Amino acid sequence: MFDLLKKLINKPKPCSNGVSVRDFYNESAEKEFMRTTKNAAHMLEFQTTEYFYKKYLKKGMKVLDAGGGPGRYTIDLAKQGCYMTLLDISDKELEIAKRKIKQHHVDKFVDSVDLGSITELPYKDNSFDMVLCIGGPLSHLRTDKERQKAIKELVRVAKIDAPIFISVMARPAVLNLCVKDFKEYIKSYGYKDNKYDFWKETRLLIQQGDDNWFVGCSYAHFFWPSELKDLVLKTAKNTKLLHQVALEWPNQNAHKEFNEIAKNKKHYKKWLDLHFSVCEHPDMLSLSAHIMIVIQKKK
Ligand SMILES: C[S@@+](CC[C@H](N)C(=O)[O-])C[C@H]1O[C@@H](n2cnc3c(N)ncnc32)[C@H](O)[C@@H]1O
Repeated sequence: MFDLLKKLINKPKPCSNGVSVRDFYNESAEKEFMRTTKNAAHMLEFQTTEYFYKKYLKKGMKVLDAGGGPGRYTIDLAKQGCYMTLLDISDKELEIAKRKIKQHHVDKFVDSVDLGSITELPYKDNSFDMVLCIGGPLSHLRTDKERQKAIKELVRVAKIDAPIFISVMARPAVLNLCVKDFKEYIKSYGYKDNKYDFWKETRLLIQQGDDNWFVGCSYAHFFWPSELKDLVLKTAKNTKLLHQVALEWPNQNAHKEFNEIAKNKKHYKKWLDLHFSVCEHPDMLSLSAHIMIVIQKKK
């Protein structure tokens, strides 16, 4: 009986399409802080991102965490002695970030927490030693034009030689989820208001990468790995490609099994080593739910 109740409570609620990205993140702000730490499978995205930025990290660096939400990465980097600027479009996420920053006693390493959009950064040219736009903010922009505007902004505010980390949601991995999870989405969004047409929406997702349901009925663009690379390299003039990374393997289809493996710390460590040894292979990008590209600003 208890299990049945739990299932009913956890079932995604029917909702109508067209929720704005800001409203979605305002609604799910508390959950977002736990997203990358709630279990081993989700931790992989965080730990792989961290593994790569640690290669470039120096104490005292000025770092921008653009689309940094509730501040998970801001706090991590502040703990490592970086001076952080956090920007996000969701005021609720930023409220939580301010609270968490205090709780983690890193206030003196956080220069500012700003409401704003990655498409129009309120910072001067050449301001930051490292720039992050991690966990999909770019995936929430609707057009290539807007995405290009954001990429140009990220590069503009970076100092010469600064690394710029951009991660997004990937298309092959989400298509893999269609079969496993989308029946829940059809049920929850489709059966009441009859607005959800699985075949139409899946075709849109396959052909254009656009989705209006998967992220709480707000908009998300899922990138082909090659699409992200082409877009970033054609937009970010005077930059050098440093890395392309599959942030998590296994992808969502094996969460349960991976969490089992990770209960044993030694096994988890061995898995991480394996993952780090292969995550830059270009063909691995197609297995990962989130993919990251790292570029460096040049003169
Ligand atoms: C999945 S969360 C990732 C948060 C954080 N970077 C992390 O990985 O833990 C995506 C974030 O992008 C933010 N976002 C979406 N569109 C944005 C925009 N145009 N400008 C700034 N932030 C945006 C959302 O509010 C949300 O906090």
